[in-house]
Amino acid sequence: MDKLVVHGGKRLKGNVKISGAKNAVLPIMASSLLVNGTTIIHNVPDLRDTRTFIQLLEILGAKCTLKESTLSIDASDITSLEAPYDLVKTMRASFYVMGPLLGRFGESKVSLPGGCAWGPRPVDYHLKGFEKLGATIDLNQGYILAQSEKLQGSEISFEIASVGATANILMAAVLAEGKTFINNAAVEPHIVQLCDVLVDMGANIRGIGTHRLEIEGVSSLRPVEVKVIPDMIEAGTFLMAGATLGEITLTDVDPSHLNIVLEKLDHAGCDLTIDGSTITIKQNNFIRSTDITTDVHPGFPTDLQAQWIALMSVADGTSVVTETIYLDRFSHVPELVRLGANISLENNIAIIRGQKSLTGAQVMSTDIRASASLVIAALIADGRSDISRIYHIDRGYEQIEEKFKLLGADIFREKE
Ligand code: UD1
Repeated sequence: MDKLVVHGGKRLKGNVKISGAKNAVLPIMASSLLVNGTTIIHNVPDLRDTRTFIQLLEILGAKCTLKESTLSIDASDITSLEAPYDLVKTMRASFYVMGPLLGRFGESKVSLPGGCAWGPRPVDYHLKGFEKLGATIDLNQGYILAQSEKLQGSEISFEIASVGATANILMAAVLAEGKTFINNAAVEPHIVQLCDVLVDMGANIRGIGTHRLEIEGVSSLRPVEVKVIPDMIEAGTFLMAGATLGEITLTDVDPSHLNIVLEKLDHAGCDLTIDGSTITIKQNNFIRSTDITTDVHPGFPTDLQAQWIALMSVADGTSVVTETIYLDRFSHVPELVRLGANISLENNIAIIRGQKSLTGAQVMSTDIRASASLVIAALIADGRSDISRIYHIDRGYEQIEEKFKLLGADIFREKE
């Protein structure tokens, strides 16, 4: 197992190219299963999760080739409709194959994802949605078996605007008979891109980017070529590092995906310049404590909550971070406290009392974004930090230490 070793306190300066978005590429990869032919995807980030998804597609019989950052997926000869536990347990997004397999082949068998580092994450919306489309759902030996002769359009409403359920139901509904309405659909940029890709494939979707999607089923879809949107979470992570550590210019970014994050950084006193697809952030002498509450898009993303707490741990004053998407997503807090942060937790609220500085320590990654917050805090801290279990970070960040090294950070990977 690898760990990251960081000697903090170095000033960062330079450009960083933002990779394609993990949360956009995974559903697009799943959507390739809808098509008899080859889907070509550009700007694919080389992540553990993309590689796991390729492995899953290959188990199903798709032929995948990843060259540089272009992935081609030929789903003409699908030989299995089963996503095995070994893969699903390492990556919940494997559940995304259920919708397209059910839509195209009338059947899919996917292992239940099981536990997760941040509390219960059910898939009931996905399953209720498939049932509404006329599928029968059975649970047997930890696997969900969904079957239907032909899916029928229906009206589906989510209690929470779930990203995963919106994507999964969409991918089933595009090949259903008749009209499907999804109420309280997610509007994250990666959902908008999935809709755009499906429309390019020949799907009939109205209301894209709104909370009510209307899908008129078609009988078949055609292969497409697509470029994955920039990763707004990776971009936000580098912005939060730049906020305390120097001057960083992000390139290949879409600032419109980051409105609330840029607003909060501005409030915190950061100097930001936006020019087309670049954002430059300059550190200010002090960070003003700034509260955030996570919410569905366009609210503050839960996937940047941990990194914001790392930044606020050296802010001037006390800030309050409220997590509303998940019940228990604060596993980074005890680790940040090991680095000298002063944070207390009350249910789903973190209260952060800003400190003058942080101090290097041994810490442990617990999930993708929690790891990113530890990298930011370790880069700020005086002295050496060792961040263990970084396989989490490799799931969602492409060569994070190389990107930080190019900015002047003292960070390297070592065997534990
Ligand atoms: C996706 C992202 C993840 C991000 C999250 C919220 C991917 C691969 N992952 O996860 O990085 O943190 O969106 O932006 O894109 N819920 C239910 N039942 C369901 C489905 C969801 O109760 O069937 C609840 C969840 O427990 C959670 C909320 O709905 O409280 C939102 O979850 P959801 O948007 O579905 O997250 P994911 O798609 O799993």
